[in-house]
Amino acid sequence: MTAKIFLKLLLGVLCVLIVALAAVDVLVSARARADYLEQRQQELSQKARMLAALSPNGFADLPREKFRAVAREAGVRLTVIGPDGVVLADSEGEPSEMENHGGRPEVMAALQGREGASHRLSPTIGVDSLYVAEPIPAGALRLAVRISDIEGQVTMLRKEMLMSMVLAFIPAMLVAAFFARYVSARLGSIIEFAARLADGGFRTRMNWSGKDELTKLAVKLDETAVKLENTFDELRREHGELEKLEQIRKDFVINVSHELRTPLASIQGYTETLLNGAIYDAENNVRFLEIIRHNAERLANLTRDLLTLSRVELKLQKFQFASYYINPLIEHCLDSLMPLAEARNISIAIERAPETTEVFCDSEAIHQALSNLLDNAIKYTPEGGSVVVSARVAPRVKGQPEFVEISVRDTGIGVPKEDLPRLFERFYRVDKARSRAQGGTGLGLAIVKHLVRSQGGMVWVESDYGRGATFRFTVPTQDLGLSEDGEVQAGLTVS
Ligand SMILES: Nc1ncnc2c1ncn2[C@@H]1O[C@H](COP(=O)(O)OP(=O)(O)OP(=O)(O)O)[C@@H](O)[C@H]1O
Ligand SMILES: [Mg+2]
Repeated sequence: MTAKIFLKLLLGVLCVLIVALAAVDVLVSARARADYLEQRQQELSQKARMLAALSPNGFADLPREKFRAVAREAGVRLTVIGPDGVVLADSEGEPSEMENHGGRPEVMAALQGREGASHRLSPTIGVDSLYVAEPIPAGALRLAVRISDIEGQVTMLRKEMLMSMVLAFIPAMLVAAFFARYVSARLGSIIEFAARLADGGFRTRMNWSGKDELTKLAVKLDETAVKLENTFDELRREHGELEKLEQIRKDFVINVSHELRTPLASIQGYTETLLNGAIYDAENNVRFLEIIRHNAERLANLTRDLLTLSRVELKLQKFQFASYYINPLIEHCLDSLMPLAEARNISIAIERAPETTEVFCDSEAIHQALSNLLDNAIKYTPEGGSVVVSARVAPRVKGQPEFVEISVRDTGIGVPKEDLPRLFERFYRVDKARSRAQGGTGLGLAIVKHLVRSQGGMVWVESDYGRGATFRFTVPTQDLGLSEDGEVQAGLTVS
């Protein structure tokens, strides 16, 4: 590829040189011809003036032989023409046989008292000639020279010029070859780079610096590569996200099916056992029915949680935002979970916020979020443990709205560090068997996350594995301009 460009460039330069040579040849030939004629004409007019000065009648009175000798010595053809144009003497022809010369341009000028000159084919001797005529008292003295050697002169000059141009060609071609090699090498790199780009090699760069056109092209190609690389990365990232979403969807379907299958299989199994006669087995029938009821309850919980989650996720749940004092909201929630805590001999305490502390939220949403956290705290804390719910106004971040932070702290089993980041995912449970045994579906925290976000807050967890966990979430104290479905309205920032 580079060799081809090199040859093309070199051929281009060669063509230019040849065209220049031809043009110079034409111009120089024309110039040489004109110069030669001018020079000869000057010589001729000098001789003419001299001869005219020497003889007022142009030597016409000399005997014919002498007249011819004068012409020979002067190296010209000599003609004397009378005022009426009649040829009086001619060194090469017979005057009596010669036609009237009064019409010749140079003679006309001389007869009018000026020097005349002309270049043409002589009708008398049939040769290309140069004429100069001087006025003399007897009429006109005309000198003529053959200029048949003009072409010889011009050809000689052309040969010399061609030789010197050919000599000049050698360094010119060397310089051109060097230049062509330089340009073709650079063009070759650009072509290679463009080919790499076309094949998807967006990560390489040319990194040229300079101001010439090729460098500008290289810089533009670099910019294109950067843009392509960014677009490519963006597409790959989006593709990755889509794949992740697809995986989440698949996992969700598998999880839901699995969660439904286990209680359903249990219900089916025990119902068949009862129908097959166990219903009359006084020892077991109530136990079997109890298992059926427990599994039916799990199914009900699961479908309820799934519905809640999808309603919040799909923004179908309509919220009614209003201002509430935070302490009564928490107390109401504790009241409903107190029986569960008492049954497990777990103490629940509340660290109240200042009584006038308000939150702006949907009370049902906050009630459910807090209930889920309390339910977990009670479920995952061994008997005799304690749970503390506390509320406080969170330290304000500059430029951000004010929030109340509510935390649920327990002395339970805690969460291993590696599970913390995934705790709020749907169906994620640290200990599946344990959670299931307690009727858990693994949706509680996912619901909390979506509910808290729909109110404009955040939720997170801290835990020292084996020594309890603390779940915290925030609720804004003022209207953030959220719509009924928990969407952030334009122009507002929510942390
Ligand atoms: N306070 C806590 N202490 C220790 N582990 C917890 C606590 N809260 C949640 N977890 C862990 O997080 C998991 C997910 O909790 P999540 O509330 O989403 O589901 P669940 O309690 O198993 O079921 P449910 O849908 O009935 O709430 C639990 O299975 C448990 O492993
Ligand atoms: Mg739970």
